[in-house]
Order: sequence, then C-alpha cells, then structure tokens
Amino acid sequence: VTQAVVVRHRAAVSRIGFSKPVRLALDDGLIAEGSSVFDYGCGKGADLRLLQQRGIEATGWDPAFLPRSPRQPADVVNLGYVINVIEDPTERVSALREAWSLTKKVLVVAARLTSDLSLGTQSPYQDGYLTRCGTFQKYFEQSGLRDWIDSTLNVSAVPACPGIFYIFRDPGIREAHIASRYRRKIQLPHRLRTEALYERNREALQPLLHFMVDRGRLPDQSELPNPSAISQVFGTLRRAFQVIQKATGHEHWTQVRDQRAHDLLIYLALARFTHRPKFSDLPKDIQLDVKAFFPTYGRACDKADELLFSAGDITAVSATCAGCAVGKKTPNALYLHKSLLPLLPPILRVYEGCARSYMGAVDAANVIKLHRHRPQISYLLYREFDRSPHPVLSASLVVPLQTFRVQYRDYRQVENPPILHRKEDLLPPDHPDRQKLERLSRSEEKYGLYDRPEQIGTRNAWLDLLAQKGVRHAGHRLVKRKS
Ligand SMILES: C[S@@+](CC[C@H](N)C(=O)[O-])C[C@H]1O[C@@H](n2cnc3c(N)ncnc32)[C@H](O)[C@@H]1O
Repeated sequence: VTQAVVVRHRAAVSRIGFSKPVRLALDDGLIAEGSSVFDYGCGKGADLRLLQQRGIEATGWDPAFLPRSPRQPADVVNLGYVINVIEDPTERVSALREAWSLTKKVLVVAARLTSDLSLGTQSPYQDGYLTRCGTFQKYFEQSGLRDWIDSTLNVSAVPACPGIFYIFRDPGIREAHIASRYRRKIQLPHRLRTEALYERNREALQPLLHFMVDRGRLPDQSELPNPSAISQVFGTLRRAFQVIQKATGHEHWTQVRDQRAHDLLIYLALARFTHRPKFSDLPKDIQLDVKAFFPTYGRACDKADELLFSAGDITAVSATCAGCAVGKKTPNALYLHKSLLPLLPPILRVYEGCARSYMGAVDAANVIKLHRHRPQISYLLYREFDRSPHPVLSASLVVPLQTFRVQYRDYRQVENPPILHRKEDLLPPDHPDRQKLERLSRSEEKYGLYDRPEQIGTRNAWLDLLAQKGVRHAGHRLVKRKS
C-alpha cells in the first residue's frame, strides 16, 4: 500500500492554473460565489488555493499530501484524475462512493481516456498501464467511464466533455443544466423607434427585456426581481411587453420565441437517450416554457420525437445539409465553425447533439463536420484557424453515432496533413473576417488554384501547386513569388 501511494502521488503535478474539471465547473456556473467545494484527492492543493483566492470556500483531502485534513461535505465535490491512478478496482469504487457521499449538489468526476494513451511510453499493468516514471494509469472509454459511474452510484451521469462527468443530486438542477446547454445566446434587440413610454421607463423595463430574450415568453410574477415596479406603471407584464415590442419591433420577438421553442425541443429530443424526465421533475421555469410554447408536455414530447426521428434518417440529414444556409458544403459533409452550431436547423442540431450528449462538449475543437452519408460527427481542431489562411488539421475526434466507437487522431506528427480551404464558408455571415477571406479565395481562383479541388486536400499538394503557379501567401493575401 505504501509503495502504491508513493507511486500514485508522484502523479500529482504542480499546476499554475485550474485543473480542467474545476475550470469547467466554474465556466458552467456550477462553482459560483457562495458555493462550497471539496477537492477529493486534491494532490498538492493547487485548485484549492486558486478557488480560495476567488473567495470560494474550498477544502480538500489527499492520502499522500493532505492525509490529516478532514473529509467534509460540500456543494461541489471534485474527484479530478484520481480514479485513474488507483490500481485496485475495489478502492476505485470506494473513492467514488465516498466522494458522492460528501456531495450536496454536484460531483465532478474526471479521468483519463484511452485517447490520452500514448502506447510508446507505457506498458500494460493489471487493468491499466505503468508509465515510464512508474505511475499507474487506468484509461477509460467515454462510455465505460459513464457506465461505471452510473452502476456504482445508481445515477445518470451527465457528460460535461470527454473524460469529465457531472453527477447531480437534484434532478431539477440536472435538467436545468442540460437544457441550458442547448439554449443559444441571443443578443438584446436594438431600439427601432422612439417610444416615449419606453424611454421614460427604460430602467424599470430592463429585467423584463432580459427575461424575454432569455426565455422567449412572458415571465411568471415570481420570475422577475421586482414585478410591482412594472405593474405599477403598466398594469400588467403583458402591457409592459407590448411597449417593449413597439420600440424594438414585433418581428424580433416572434423570432426569439421560435428560437427558444426550438432550443427546448432539442433538449427534449436528446433527453430521450438517457431518460426523458417526468413533467414534475422539470424545474419550474422549463415547465412554464413548455406551457407557453406547446399546449401540453405530451405534445412537446411528440414533436421532440419527430425531430429525433428525422435526425436518425440520414437521407433527411443529407438533404438538410445540402439546403443549409450556413457552413461549407461538400458532397460528403457539412463543415462549420463551432460558433455556427446554434444557427443550424433543428434537425442538424439534434444530429450533432447525438454526439454531444454522449461526449459532452468537445471544447478544444473549433470545426465540426456533419457527415452526410453515414451517421457520424467529427470534431476537428485547427490550431492555427485564426492566423493561417489554410490551417492544417491538428487533431480529430470522430464519433460514429451507431457504434459510438470514438476515434481520436493526433495529426501533429503527420507528414502531410489535411488543410482547410475557403475558410469564410465556415464562419457566420456577419463575421468581421469574411470579406478579407472572400477576397483571398477570389484571388486564389484567379490563379487557378481551385481548378482541381480533389487534388489540394493536403498540405504538400497545396504547397506544390502554389510553387507551380509562382505564388505564396503573405498573411491572408496571395502574392507573386520573386523569380
Ligand atoms: C493525478 S493526481 C490529481 C490531483 C488533483 N485532483 C488534480 O487534478 O490536480 C491524483 C491524486 O489522487 C490521489 N489519490 C490516490 N489514491 C487516492 C484515493 N484512494 N483517494 C483519494 N485520492 C487518491 C493521489 O495522492 C494524487 O494526489
């Protein structure tokens, strides 16, 4: 046991920033001001110090580094990269159970995935591997990790990203969290015309305006911080909203309502994969959304099923990709920058969501490829996406939706990696770089660089062609080479 602990604690690295699971829980708003955090297997306590610096009450325990610290309950418990260093399966289970028993609201579990495994430097040992420096590492498949957590704790873990899961105590908070992942960001509307009543009460109307953008429906009295400030002036919230509509345009609000109804349908469609919650298990705000957008929960679920069914029909998916107003279309796929995801038609959002509800958010990726002829989503990372006119592919994570046998590939050492062309097609229509990129593509066309598109998919072929045509790139411009 002593030897095991010695070997394990060598795995605890000194870090400068937050560990990935703690960073994610902060970004997702699960660790916030006022929450208490317990870091189970905290290593040298880097996360604890950083959280404490932010004024968050954070404590931790570690058998090697903080063995005398008490193990105490907290709102959020982090079990970050602990289970994969424990070689005894029974001890792994005890660590998970103990961490869960201390959890008041959400447990965050992170572990290494097989995609992190570099076989060259590790040798098989029990159900894992021994690294070059003698530390044990168990690698999980995303589904294996989820099944193990679910069956050990009798829960339904929510994938946050590859290798990281959230386990919620309260089913309502779980559903609110999942639904929020499919709620797109909507900008506040511009004022279109001057409305005296709106101008005079601008301040008082702000909470209602924000709520309407956020939910696309009128609030219940309990959902606004000070509803009487509005009703004193306007009588009812509905009348107050009419004033907002006059000033900002009716059309905008019809669109917001449609978008929010779609966001909700996408959440309900994908909830089918684990278990769709009972109406009474939904948080109150989502119950009110359902009543506002669909007459009944049954009707909403029927529509969500229709959507899920179409997303499972590859012919319908392919046709929707072909007619999609955004993204770069090729005969085999639709490519898009990740910022375009919320602009996709609902069927394609559900199609991509099938991979997302299995993997969580693949945040590292910046381009998403929706395959048109087999149910498959690829998450692609182009490290130089912003800087290079033709970025090379750095890594890919391919999620086949029938088998979920996820494949990860690192292209950094690949001699002739794939590259990207016509970057502008992947970006939102109002992206500030679009004009510059379109100009570049036009001048590349003029030099005949796109005459044989099937021959320019990889870096070497592209560089050869540029040399042949006597041109090179200077930033996002094409210039003649000096002879
Ligand atoms: C890779 S480190 C992770 C440390 C920290 N959570 C982080 O993310 O930086 C793994 C830690 O798990 C601790 N550990 C090993 N066995 C454990 C157990 N049974 N229960 C809790 N922690 C354990 C080790 O001492 C080590 O500090």
